[in-house]
Amino acid sequence: MSDALTLDGARARDAADPLSRWRGEFHFPASRQGGPAIYLCGNSLGLQPRTAAAEVEGFMAEWRRLGVLGYHDAGADWLNLHERLAPALATLAGARHAEVVAMQSLTINLHFLMASFYRPTSGRHVVLIERDAFPSDRYAVLSQLDWHGRDRAQSLVQVAPRPGEHLLRSEDLIAAIQRLGPQLALVMLPGIQYLTGQLLDLGALTRAAHAAGAHIGFDLAHAIGNVPLALHDWGADFAVWCSYKYLNGGPGATAGAFVHERHFDAGLPRLAGWWGNDLTSRFEFGQEFRPCPGAAGWQVSNTPLLGMIPLRASLAQFEAAGFAALCAKSRELTGWLERLLDERLGDRIEILTPRDPDARGAQLSIRLRDARGTGKALFDAMVGNGLICDWREPDVIRLAPAPLYNSFEDCWRAVMLIAELLSAAPGSRS
Ligand SMILES: Cc1ncc(COP(=O)(O)O)c(C=O)c1O
Repeated sequence: MSDALTLDGARARDAADPLSRWRGEFHFPASRQGGPAIYLCGNSLGLQPRTAAAEVEGFMAEWRRLGVLGYHDAGADWLNLHERLAPALATLAGARHAEVVAMQSLTINLHFLMASFYRPTSGRHVVLIERDAFPSDRYAVLSQLDWHGRDRAQSLVQVAPRPGEHLLRSEDLIAAIQRLGPQLALVMLPGIQYLTGQLLDLGALTRAAHAAGAHIGFDLAHAIGNVPLALHDWGADFAVWCSYKYLNGGPGATAGAFVHERHFDAGLPRLAGWWGNDLTSRFEFGQEFRPCPGAAGWQVSNTPLLGMIPLRASLAQFEAAGFAALCAKSRELTGWLERLLDERLGDRIEILTPRDPDARGAQLSIRLRDARGTGKALFDAMVGNGLICDWREPDVIRLAPAPLYNSFEDCWRAVMLIAELLSAAPGSRS
C-alpha cells in the first residue's frame, strides 16, 4: 500500500481497512459548513451508534408493555441486564466475567471501592496519586482522607513529571511506591493520563504496589475500549471506568468497575445497598446483607437501566468488530495522524503524547510550540470549521481518532484544516 501522506494515501488506507464499514454505523454531528463534522473527540464523548435509538425504544416498549413485570419477564430480564454486559466488558478489561460489573458512575464507583480498599491505619495511611490527576479523582481521594480524619499533608503523596518534562516516568512512580513502603495504603492512578494521553505500565505498577503491601486501583476512563487491558493477570485490586468515551454508551451512561476475584470472599467492608444483595434473597427483604458473588456485590441502588441500553448496543459493536482488530487499527490510525502532524505541522506544533505506540492509545495531545498564536484561538477556529476535538487547560488540544468510526481521511482533513488555520493566523511564517 502507498505510504504517501496524501489524500490519495488516506483513501487507499481506508479502502484497505477491514473495519471501515463501522463508520456508517454511527451518527456524526453536522458541521456548520454542512456535511458531517470531522469528529476526533471519542476520548470525551463517543458517537451514537445507529442501533442505540431502536434499542432504547425497544426498552421503552418493554416498560409500556410490562410495567414492573419487566424485572421478572424472561425476555426483558431487567434484573440481570448487567450480567449480559459482563462478557463484553470482561474482554475489554482483561478480566473474568464475575470481576466486572456495569453500575453507577465513575466517581461514585471510585468512592465505593475506596471505601473497601482504602482502610488507613496509623502506620499505613498514604494514598499515592499523580500530581495532574483528573480533578474528580483528586477530589474523591482528598475527601476520602478527610472522611477518615487523615491529615492531607501527611497522607497524600503526589508524583509529577520531572522538571521540564510532561510525561510521568514509570521508574519515578515505582521509586515513590518503594520509598513509601509500609506507609503506603493505596496507589490510585489513571490507566491513560487524560491530559497527555500517556498509558502507564499498569502491570509493573501493580507489582510494585503489592510488593509494598498496598492496594492499587485504576481510573480507566481513557483506557477502557481504547487499549488492551489485563486487569486479572496484572492482579490489580480494583478499577473503575465511565462508558461515555471510547465505549460510546452515551452521555452519563452506566459506568463500570472491576474487583479482582481474590477479594470476593475476603470479608472486605463495603458500603452496601440492596441492589448488591444476592438475587436469591434480595426480594426476601431480610435484615442481613448477603452480597452478590463477584464485583456485582458492590452494586448499591436499583440500576438506571436506561443508561445501560445504548451501552448494550455499543458493546455489541465492539464484540462484532473484535477488540484486537480495533486495537490494531487504532495503532495504525494514530500513528498516521502522528506522521501527518510531524510532517505538515512539526515546526508549529508539539506532540505531548508518548511516541511509543505501546505507551498510548488513540489520543494525541498537541500544543503550539510558540506564542505566535494562542492555542485556544486555534482550537476555537478548529471547532468553528467543523473539526470537533477538545481543549484542556492550560494549552492542550486533544485529538482522538477512534478506530470504530474514524478514517484515515478524517486524520488527513483534520491536519490540513489545522495547517490552513495556522497559515492564516497573524504572525504566521507561511
Ligand atoms: C480521567 C477521568 N476520571 C474521572 C472522570 C469523571 O467521571 P464521572 O463524571 O463520570 O464520574 C472523567 C470524566 O471525564 C475523566 O476523564
